[in-house]
Amino acid sequence: MEKPISLFVVTFLFFLLNQSRAIVGKYNVLELGAKADGNTDSTQSLLSAWAAACGSSKPSTILVPKGRFLVKRVQFSGPCKNKAINFRIRGTLVAPSGHEALGNAGYWLHFQNVDGVTIHGGILDARGAGLWACKAAGNGCSSGGATTLGFTNSNNIAITRLTSLNSQMYHLVFIGCNQVKLQKIKVLAAGNSPNTDGIHVQFSSGVSILSSRISTGDDCVSIGPGTTNLWIENVLCGPGHGISIGSLAKDFEEEGVQNVTVKRVKFRNTQNGARIKSWGRPSKGFVKDVLFQHVTMINVQNPIVIDQNYCPRHINCPGQVSGVKINDVTYRDIHGTSATEVAVKFDCSEKYPCSGIRLEDVKLTYQNQKAKSSCANAAGTALGLLEPASCL
Ligand SMILES: *[C@@H]1O[C@H](CO)[C@@H](O)[C@H](O)[C@H]1NC(C)=O
Repeated sequence: MEKPISLFVVTFLFFLLNQSRAIVGKYNVLELGAKADGNTDSTQSLLSAWAAACGSSKPSTILVPKGRFLVKRVQFSGPCKNKAINFRIRGTLVAPSGHEALGNAGYWLHFQNVDGVTIHGGILDARGAGLWACKAAGNGCSSGGATTLGFTNSNNIAITRLTSLNSQMYHLVFIGCNQVKLQKIKVLAAGNSPNTDGIHVQFSSGVSILSSRISTGDDCVSIGPGTTNLWIENVLCGPGHGISIGSLAKDFEEEGVQNVTVKRVKFRNTQNGARIKSWGRPSKGFVKDVLFQHVTMINVQNPIVIDQNYCPRHINCPGQVSGVKINDVTYRDIHGTSATEVAVKFDCSEKYPCSGIRLEDVKLTYQNQKAKSSCANAAGTALGLLEPASCL
């Protein structure tokens, strides 16, 4: 009598085990051919894991264990059969050495048309220094370089505790995405590395960037046309070029930027703090409903700046004015030190002056002296303690 019962128990346990496996598909790249030695090409294992996870109707986890995994260009394409694909990365993904290796593909790791992808942990090491050196040499480089991680036309994305090192171009880019939550992100690249923006958002809505540290050679966060409902909170920036709405007005037909909140952010040794910039060119673009609040500036060259006469290399803009209308931008509780005398600068469009600019409790000093503010074509209100005095 005993034997059939124990057989039954064992069968039942196997049944349970299979059930739990069936609830979440698990794909470990080591079991799919990856090698954690930093040299063996592990690209195919990630592609196989993705194909299985994306093709499954069940929630799936893709596991990258500890170690260094050499990965070439990867395109993670959807739509998938489920809306819960979770990357758990304990190790480091390493790009091939030599900046030519990623070619002109635009991205190193690129997600497209996905819904419900999360990434937890991990280090992405793009080894960008070769391309930076090539650019610095000024003799032309065979490849423009790639963005480290991009999401295009994707929804419901969550990324936590991810570190991006030394991107060739931008670190993280979101284009055409809805509902993206980035938390505890670390971006690290040299302060003089070219075009290594930390996080770039464009044509996207509902992106939040929380509790993150961004040290890089270009914008900490750059906010492109068509960005709405963006929330940035508790972020440390520096070195780098600050948080920048723009460049806008690159094109005539351009979507606006609306409802951007930047709160509890610290800028340290950055070129800019809170910046809005547009080319001095005709455009249908606009910026409205922006709030910068509880911001600390430490040795920032342009702590508060609106520059609508952006015209790098003086091509296709001299003598023109910006078509971008800027309305309702609030700067509240901004304090710290400016590295230049002009701490607040509003250089707005002659044709479409800035309106509804609000300064409230702004205290910025320049080498323990009084800083200055400068206004052109800017109107608004000033409230509370203001240093430098408002020029609105
Ligand atoms: C502005 O964006 C935030 C998210 O960043 C959102 O919660 C809020 O509802 C938006 N406000 C409007 C008026 O759409």
